[in-house]
Amino acid sequence: MPRVRIALTVNGDPREADVWGGESLLHALRERLGLPGSKNACEQGECGSCSVLLDGVLVCSCLVLAAQADGHEVVTVEGLGDGRRLHPVQEAFVATGAVQCGFCTPGLVVATADLLAQNPSPTDDEIREALSGNVCRCTGYQKIFDAVRAAAAAERAG
Ligand code: FES
Ligand code: FES
Repeated sequence: MPRVRIALTVNGDPREADVWGGESLLHALRERLGLPGSKNACEQGECGSCSVLLDGVLVCSCLVLAAQADGHEVVTVEGLGDGRRLHPVQEAFVATGAVQCGFCTPGLVVATADLLAQNPSPTDDEIREALSGNVCRCTGYQKIFDAVRAAAAAERAG
């Protein structure tokens, strides 16, 4: 099967990869670009564990062809922190005990960071709506809500 070379920006760095025509962006990130933070749980757009930002828009990377990302900008969970410190959303998830098996966490962190960038003071309904595409099988969601509220408060406090 022929491959195509794609060139894209990932977490601020120019990257290239040779991908199959039908290959997902999720697969390319994990298997070709060394970024396993985005998780592969359903590969059907149902769970949100593969969430990334594509040109600043939250997407399920399992539903995006890698070839569609050619020439575009991708931010994964690995790109949220500054390399030395966790992102405030990551810190809040750890501090509130919102991480159990952790499989849903990268997608939730990316979705939460996206929410708070657009809406620094979300209501509970707005949090519920923003995270409605992210499935967690472990926590019952209460601690995830606590984490989002804590991250919002921390970011507002600067
Ligand atoms: S792996 Fe992409 S939505 Fe579940
Ligand atoms: S912590 Fe296990 S799926 Fe969410």
